[in-house]
Amino acid sequence: MPNLQSSLTSVHNLLKEKIKDCSKQEDVELLRIQYLGKKGEITAVLKGLGKVDPKERAEIGKLGNQLKNEAETLLKNQIEIIQNNYYTTLAKNEYFDVTATPSFSYMGKTTGSIHPISKTWQKLEEVFTSMGFSIMDGPQIETDYNNFEALNFTDDHPARDMQDTFYTTDGHLLRTHTSAVQVRAMQKLNPPMRMIVPGRVFRFEEIDASHEHTFYQMEGMLIDKKVSVSNLLYLMQSLLKNIFEKEVNVRLRPGYFPFVEPGFELDMECLICDGKGCSVCKKSGWVEVLPCGLVHPNVIKSGGLDPNKWQGAAFGLGLNRLVMMHNHIEDIRYFQNPNIEFLNQFN
Ligand code: FA5
Repeated sequence: MPNLQSSLTSVHNLLKEKIKDCSKQEDVELLRIQYLGKKGEITAVLKGLGKVDPKERAEIGKLGNQLKNEAETLLKNQIEIIQNNYYTTLAKNEYFDVTATPSFSYMGKTTGSIHPISKTWQKLEEVFTSMGFSIMDGPQIETDYNNFEALNFTDDHPARDMQDTFYTTDGHLLRTHTSAVQVRAMQKLNPPMRMIVPGRVFRFEEIDASHEHTFYQMEGMLIDKKVSVSNLLYLMQSLLKNIFEKEVNVRLRPGYFPFVEPGFELDMECLICDGKGCSVCKKSGWVEVLPCGLVHPNVIKSGGLDPNKWQGAAFGLGLNRLVMMHNHIEDIRYFQNPNIEFLNQFN
């Protein structure tokens, strides 16, 4: 039936012309509905197939399907062309040269600076990698298992209250310490192993000059056949010597953490007030920065290792407080505050 064939071809040719003029995706969609939709023009022509002589029906049907597929492809290609044009224009209009000299300055400076926490973080990574430590990372949204249970905190362990916790509605939590990576590390790295985990942690805390709800810690862990308290003290001395580049007064006292035995608190003499007492050290003259201990056999077991064969030492450095001591920053809240004047001091 030549009539139906020529209607199909002319509708199709019309569509081909119109597609070229579409510059928006919505226009292409409108054309698709107009020609290929349930009540579309190509569909309408094809509906006439029922009345065609059965001998010719197959041939016209084939042509109809071929033109329909061709039309679909043309519409799809036009959408691609429109999207590519969009990104090309965007790239042209939004291009900027990151190496160009800024046309403005703030307080006489045209460059930014590395955040003091990042600086110390980088320095610590250098110090520890030079001693054969690898650097690990872990998720900030953690399981109760990795943050508590695997670290020897049973369900009703009173020590869970030492770290007020933010819980998510799906039963996870925001990690309260980088110790949450200890078990992941033992499972991933073959002993003997040494690793550090610098990272962000969260606690549902009351905020003051030395307490934040979001702060940074750096975990350190060493697993070997024989590990002693003197290994641990050597590591911590190296850490402090490299950061402060001078002798600093420290004191070691017993500390309780379910995941170490024995456990210690390493305090630094407060460098904000030279030990005289201020709001950072809560008038005590000392600041808690480096709790540590020998890894509890139950934690070694949680890591899939045999505690009769392997021993471990670990520490959890409070990075914000260390940086406060190093740079004489008298309030921890400065770190989260995007105050250019504060940051400029470290340029
Ligand atoms: C812990 O988080 C243990 N995971 C540390 C540890 C690791 C012990 C390995 C033994 C072995 P603690 O809750 O004390 O411990 O925190 C460690 C350090 O983080 C503190 O010494 C302190 O410097 C810092 N810190 C703790 N809470 C805050 C806070 N709210 N704001 C800023 N720094 C904090």
